Amino acid sequence: MQSSITINYSRLAVGKLSSFNNCSLKSTHQLRRALHQPSTFVLSFPPTLTKTRLTPPSQYIFEKKNYSSTRNMATQTCTITKNSVQMNINKINNEQYFMDLEHTYGAHNYHPLPVVLNRGKGVLVYDVNDKKYYDFLSAYSAVNQGHCHDRLIETMIKQCQTLTLTSRAFHNDLLGKFEEKICKLFNYDKFLPMNSGVEACDTAIKLARRYGYMIKKIPDNQAKIIFAKNNFWGRSLAAISASNDPDSYSKFGPFMPCFESIPYNDISALEEKLKNDPNIAAFMCEPIQGEAGVCVPDDGYLTKVSEICKKYNVLFIADEVQTGLGRTGKWLCVDHENVKPDIICLGKALSGGFYPVSGVLTSNQIMNLIKPGEHGSTYGGNPLAAAIGMTALDILNDENLVSNAEKQGKLLRELLNQKLDKSKVTQIRGKGLLNAIIIDPKYDAWEVCLKLKDNGLLAKPTHGDKIRFAPPLCITSEQIADCANIIAHVIDQL
Ligand SMILES: Cc1ncc(COP(=O)(O)O)c(C=O)c1O
Repeated sequence: MQSSITINYSRLAVGKLSSFNNCSLKSTHQLRRALHQPSTFVLSFPPTLTKTRLTPPSQYIFEKKNYSSTRNMATQTCTITKNSVQMNINKINNEQYFMDLEHTYGAHNYHPLPVVLNRGKGVLVYDVNDKKYYDFLSAYSAVNQGHCHDRLIETMIKQCQTLTLTSRAFHNDLLGKFEEKICKLFNYDKFLPMNSGVEACDTAIKLARRYGYMIKKIPDNQAKIIFAKNNFWGRSLAAISASNDPDSYSKFGPFMPCFESIPYNDISALEEKLKNDPNIAAFMCEPIQGEAGVCVPDDGYLTKVSEICKKYNVLFIADEVQTGLGRTGKWLCVDHENVKPDIICLGKALSGGFYPVSGVLTSNQIMNLIKPGEHGSTYGGNPLAAAIGMTALDILNDENLVSNAEKQGKLLRELLNQKLDKSKVTQIRGKGLLNAIIIDPKYDAWEVCLKLKDNGLLAKPTHGDKIRFAPPLCITSEQIADCANIIAHVIDQL
C-alpha cells in the first residue's frame, strides 16, 4: 500500500532517518537543510522498507525488512517539533505492528481485542489510527471517573513534583488525610492502604485469620476462609487457591490450605457451612460477581449473609474492588441493602486509572490486631497514591458520578430491553453501570465484541457468552442512547 502523509520532524529524526541506506533521501545534510526550510519535502521509501507504521499524530515508526541482527530490529522513531515533511509510506498498518511487538516480547497471558489504543478522554478512547470508541469496560471499572480526568492529571503532576514515595519507614503529610477522608466517607474506623486489588483482598484475609486466632480463639493454623464459587479476586497464589476456574488454578498448585467455597447467592449453603464449623474466620464475596459475568444476587442476599456471619462470629468481607466507588449506583454495592460488612476491600477506581491504589476498611478492633512489622507494602500509602486517592474520591462526589451511574444504568438496561432481539440476547442484567448481556450460545460473544469494536464500542466477553457493559460513570444520557443504538445495530446483524 502506498500512501502519502505529512508529518513534522525534529533533529532527533535526522540521524535515524538517514540510517536507512535505501531511502531516496540519504544525507543528514539534506535533512538538516530541510529542517530549516519551512517548505514541503518529499521523502520516499523503497519497497525494501515494508513495515512502516503510523502512531499518533506526530510519531512514525519504521522497520527494515531484512534486518540481520536483533539490534537492527529496533524500531526507528521520529519525534516532532516543527516544519513538515511529506513522505511516501509503503505500508501503514500500525495496529498490527504494536500487536506484533506485544506478541513477540510480552507474555501471552491475555487475549485482548485487536485494537491498539493511544489516548482517551472521559468515556472515549482512540486507537492509533485515531478511530474513536466508547469504552464500555473502563479498565475493569478502574476508570469510573473517565479517562485522563483533568483534576487527576493536575493532582498527579503537582504531587509528582513534590513528593512521591517515602515508604512507611517515615510519615508523610498526606497519608493520614487520605485515611481520614476514606474512613469518614464509608463510616469505618481504619484504612490500610495497599496497591492492587488482589493485595487488598489478601490483606483482608490476613486480618480475618488474625481475628480468628486472637478473638475467636481458633486453634493455630486452622482458620478457614469461605468463598463464593466463581469468585474472582486476582491472580496471586492465594487468589487462585480460592478459585474454581481451572484456567486460573490449573498447574499452579500447591494451593493455600483452609480455603473452601460454597455456591454464590445460596444462603442455606452458607448457614450449613458456618453452623458446622467453629474454625471459620470469614466469608468473603463480591456483592455482585463481576468477572463471573455480572451475577447479581437475589435481593436480601447480602443482608442475610451479614446476619448469618454475625450469628456464627464469622467476619463478612465484601470484595468491592470492582463494585465499589459508585460503579453500581451506590458508593458501595452493599449500600443497596444498607449492609455494613466487617471488612471492605477497595481498589481500581480509587485512583481513577492513574496509579494502583487499593486498601481495606475495617473497625478499630480488627485493624488493631496487626502490629508494626506484621503487614505492609513499600508503595502502600505513599503520598502520590494518597493525593490521587483523595482526588479520585472528590471527583466521584463533586460530579455526582454515583447517582449518574444509577440513572444511566437504568436508562441503558431500559433501552437494551426495548431494542435487543430476545432470541439473540437472552438476558440483560446489572446494577448501575455494571451490566452484562447474555448472548444465545448459537452466536459467538467474541465475534459480537469484534463487531461492536468495528462500530465504535469496546466491550469484552467474560466467560463465553456474557458481554460486560461498564462505561465510565461520567457517561451522558445522549451517549448511552448512542451506545444502545450501536449495540442494537450489531445484534440485529447477527
Ligand atoms: C472483585 C475483584 N477483586 C479483586 C480484583 C483484583 O484486582 P487487581 O487486578 O487490581 O489485583 C479484581 C480484578 O478484576 C476484581 O474484579
